[in-house]
Amino acid sequence: MEYPVTRLRRLRSSEAMRSFVRETHLEPGALVCPLFICPGEGVRNPIASMPGVFNLSIDEALKEAEKAASLGIGGLLLFGLPESKDEQGSGAWSEDGIVQRALRELKKSAALRDLLLLADVCLCEYTSHGHCGLVKKQGEAYEIENDSSVRLIARTAVSLARAGADIVAPSDMMDGRVAAIRDDLDEAGLEKVPILSYASKFASAFYGPFREAADSAPQFGDRRSYQMDGANLREAMREIELDLAEGADMILMKPAMPYLDVIRAARERFDVPIGAYQVSGEYSMLQAAFAKGWLEPERAMMESLLSIRRAGAGFIVTYFALEAAKLLG
Ligand code: PBG
Repeated sequence: MEYPVTRLRRLRSSEAMRSFVRETHLEPGALVCPLFICPGEGVRNPIASMPGVFNLSIDEALKEAEKAASLGIGGLLLFGLPESKDEQGSGAWSEDGIVQRALRELKKSAALRDLLLLADVCLCEYTSHGHCGLVKKQGEAYEIENDSSVRLIARTAVSLARAGADIVAPSDMMDGRVAAIRDDLDEAGLEKVPILSYASKFASAFYGPFREAADSAPQFGDRRSYQMDGANLREAMREIELDLAEGADMILMKPAMPYLDVIRAARERFDVPIGAYQVSGEYSMLQAAFAKGWLEPERAMMESLLSIRRAGAGFIVTYFALEAAKLLG
């Protein structure tokens, strides 16, 4: 049936009508807020390239977490800035590592009972060279070793789960790490802790501001030998397939907006919970446009989140989590 019988504008005539036929919805419970935990007390250091984002000491993180919980946010994703770094990234799996201590503290708060605590599992914030795995140097050349890195990454996951992480989320992109993490968790009696694998993670320029926030920029070279080439959708499907075969319970797609087609393809192909990470650069470029008065903040923020949801992400890790939850609430 065509015009004039069919008039699609009939269903756009009022907000009530539009809301009645809306296909995609956002809710606070589907949002995950990243937090960057640093040493000290009363510390709330702003990240210059990410307005509204801070490095927080554990006491400040607790306040932020309670805010998130009261807004009905689904979870927090924790990153750590250790006091010191070394070649192996030993701060990542240390019993009294910065995120381990934060987890123990946050777990004590009754107000956070319904807030999931996700721990990012990676070495890059803890290694002196800033790579996500161990570096083997041969003269001028260097290699990021896979299997030895996987041992340490699995050890990190166990340590974070022991400290109270509800979900461990490996973001390093080494081969075989999901299987190793599952094995080690099970062996440690942590068989109930799920793995959210950053299965589809591209080597992206959009991680730039994060590396300031987490102080994790590689000191030489780049991450292209472990993170995926941005041109490859089929390879992303293989990464996901392998991670699921190794025991991943959920997958995370990253970045989000420049890779909406990859999220859509994954949604159609895999029947597991899928999340997407609206990464630091996506946030910073919107904030920059807001600061210039070039975009309407609330509308642009919500539209960006909706696009990710519509592409097929069930949950979204986003630096806008608290702001968006306020609007949705
Ligand atoms: C750690 C990690 C990174 C991000 C999440 N986990 C940095 C990277 O891979 O360089 C990026 C998140 C963001 O940009 O917001 N491997």
